[in-house]
Amino acid sequence: MANTILVGSQWGDEGKGKIIDVLTGKVDIVVRSQGGNNAGHTIVDGDKKYVLHLIPSGILRKGKLCVIGNGVVIDPVGLVSEIKGLAARGIKVNAKNLLISDCAHLVMPWHRELDGLREALKGKNKIGTTKRGIGPAYGDKVARTGLRICDLANPAVFREKFALRLKENNALIRALGGKPLNGKKILAGYLAAAKVLTPLVTNTVTLLHKAMQAKKEILFEGAQGTFLDIDHGTYPYVTSSNTTSGGACTGSGVAPNRIDRVVGVVKAYTTRVGEGPFPTEEDEIGDMLHAMGREFGATTGRARRCGWYDAVAARYATIINGVDDLAITNLDGLDGLDEIKVCTGYRLDGKGPVLDTPPTDAGQLARCRPLYTSFPGWKTPTDKIRKYKDLPPKARRYAETLAKLTGARLSIVSTGPGRDQTIHL
Ligand code: GDP
Ligand code: IMO
Ligand code: MG
Repeated sequence: MANTILVGSQWGDEGKGKIIDVLTGKVDIVVRSQGGNNAGHTIVDGDKKYVLHLIPSGILRKGKLCVIGNGVVIDPVGLVSEIKGLAARGIKVNAKNLLISDCAHLVMPWHRELDGLREALKGKNKIGTTKRGIGPAYGDKVARTGLRICDLANPAVFREKFALRLKENNALIRALGGKPLNGKKILAGYLAAAKVLTPLVTNTVTLLHKAMQAKKEILFEGAQGTFLDIDHGTYPYVTSSNTTSGGACTGSGVAPNRIDRVVGVVKAYTTRVGEGPFPTEEDEIGDMLHAMGREFGATTGRARRCGWYDAVAARYATIINGVDDLAITNLDGLDGLDEIKVCTGYRLDGKGPVLDTPPTDAGQLARCRPLYTSFPGWKTPTDKIRKYKDLPPKARRYAETLAKLTGARLSIVSTGPGRDQTIHL
């Protein structure tokens, strides 16, 4: 399948985990290159459901190597509990199937504390983060005050660095009205996690380079989505990493000219968790999907905000990521509707020229009114359909129109969470 980057082309939760799991069958290595345990990637294998946060979704397939790259921020205690959770379900994780970059940064408990305190201080302007400490951890990385996985390998060095960081962060926590953290307990937990993780730590850049020389194929598993990207998203209502395809290169040390293909994943509608502008948001769709038991966050359990497919945003995502192939998931979510709308343009405050690019200013995007094209619903269950030609003609027309408006080749249509509920074109 060559080296492929898979990205979310919306606001996250597009069904990346499911599509990664399907595509893993064709590659040798699956790499996570950004984000942290703010991600929640769901894979359904028969009657078993797995939600992965830090470990690449490839871990569920035998004989595949998973890599957590340098661009990921790792909560070591969280990672160990994820490893143990998989072991309890019969999936052994060891250096044969999971390797961790020695330069990945650590998420520390003070990052989580500061994440929560800053959100509380923002009041109604909060971002609605997952409170996993992601923003403060990337903040420390960029400020050059972060601790890294390689620091964990040497307890004496780690203790020293830890003490210094604890002092500064407890001062910050106090200043923001929080309760200082107890270093002793935290240190013990991190050193215990280090014992489990250190055997998995290596220079993953040279490892991936050698693997490519040996003609191994790599799939890069994006986390979050394009509009949560720190540079290209609806700032400040974003996460703190580059969720777009470029992030896969910097976050893994694999050069751009080694990438062969970019797959963009979209839902057949749009969802968003947390605050921030969402032009096509429509409570009715949310109510319908929530009543079906769908669209609750895989990490925080929050009800996702829902709306119509936003082709303006998705087309912009195609440009930023260089999307070649489009995977449309959750088509079955629209099976019962009489009419389906797609946003093909915006008007600022509902007036003036039609915008075909989302304004980069979140305030302006919040003022954009969507212009819709309507499609007749197919009113037929699609979850048992396995061949493209067997989809109702109206569903095919809808999927093809989405791909055309989004500017990418329609490659996969998913009509259920299961592995087999996947139509390849
Ligand atoms: P990710 O973060 O992009 O991996 O997506 P999540 O796992 O957070 O959310 C996607 C949700 O949609 C999960 O519950 C998946 O099991 C589910 N899912 C993925 N594709 C389909 C589909 O085609 N149909 C249905 N019904 N569910 C799907
Ligand atoms: P996956 O990989 C959906 C959102 C949060 C919040 C914003 C910032 O499962 O698609 P953060 O904790 O990162 O500082 O929160 O980003 N967010 C996600 N939304 N899917 C995700 O990951 C997300 N990861 C973060 O809800 O709005
Ligand atoms: Mg998710």
